[in-house]
Amino acid sequence: MNATLFPELTTSVIDAMKDAANPRLREIMTVLVRHLHDVIRETRLTEGEWAAAIEFLTATGGICSSTRQEFILLSDTLGVSMLVDAVNHDGGEAVTPSTVFGPFYSGEQDELPAGASILKRPEAGEPTLVSGLILDDSGTPIEGALIEVWQTAPCGLYDVQDHEQPDGHLRGSFRSAADGSYSFETVLPVSYPIPDDGPVGKMLRALGRHPNRPAHIHFMISAPGYRRLVTHIFVAGDDYLASDAVFGVKPDLIVHPTAHEDGMAIAYDFRLAGA
Ligand SMILES: [Fe+2]
Repeated sequence: MNATLFPELTTSVIDAMKDAANPRLREIMTVLVRHLHDVIRETRLTEGEWAAAIEFLTATGGICSSTRQEFILLSDTLGVSMLVDAVNHDGGEAVTPSTVFGPFYSGEQDELPAGASILKRPEAGEPTLVSGLILDDSGTPIEGALIEVWQTAPCGLYDVQDHEQPDGHLRGSFRSAADGSYSFETVLPVSYPIPDDGPVGKMLRALGRHPNRPAHIHFMISAPGYRRLVTHIFVAGDDYLASDAVFGVKPDLIVHPTAHEDGMAIAYDFRLAGA
């Protein structure tokens, strides 16, 4: 196909931005315009297809609310979130890998004592004790790190998606102890579909893709002097580990729950990079 179709148009658009006060904005927009124009040249996009694309983006914005972030889902399902993560977090082998933040963080929760449950109502899921250490990249314990966790209920929905659940159900904030330890009680996470009743779900179906994510617990760990870690732990053996709808699985984040006195136990140590 004609890769040089109307090249002066691309040059004109890029030249029009030459006085942008912010050089970084100019750089990003220059590359964006170049690639966007090339998509149109390479595919010889029809007017109907472009109209459909605009309709899709309009619908994506239209469904967004304080509890529904369709653009994050779009970014996640196209692998964009994981790529942004990859270019920003080359922590090396000594630190815990990061993964997608996702659309379901709902702000910092009240701090709970070590070992407390994050359930605000009983659930039928397998009781699970999650525990481990917060360490630096040389293995030294970090005291006072803020550990924020969130996960779905066994029905596969987060509290913010499900009015039946109490606010803050299956969410909690903890502080690591002097020896770096943390622990909390929860239920074994389950695999769940990302919200697929909107434009992103329609896109996934059109592309022959499923919307499911393997079972996981979200973690965000912050401590002064360290880079904030946004990650998950994934449960070994899940059917969707190899086909996560948002491409978030990394082998080092897979855990093997073991039988515990009253249910299951997950042990996982996190290693943070220096700031
Ligand atoms: Fe999640």
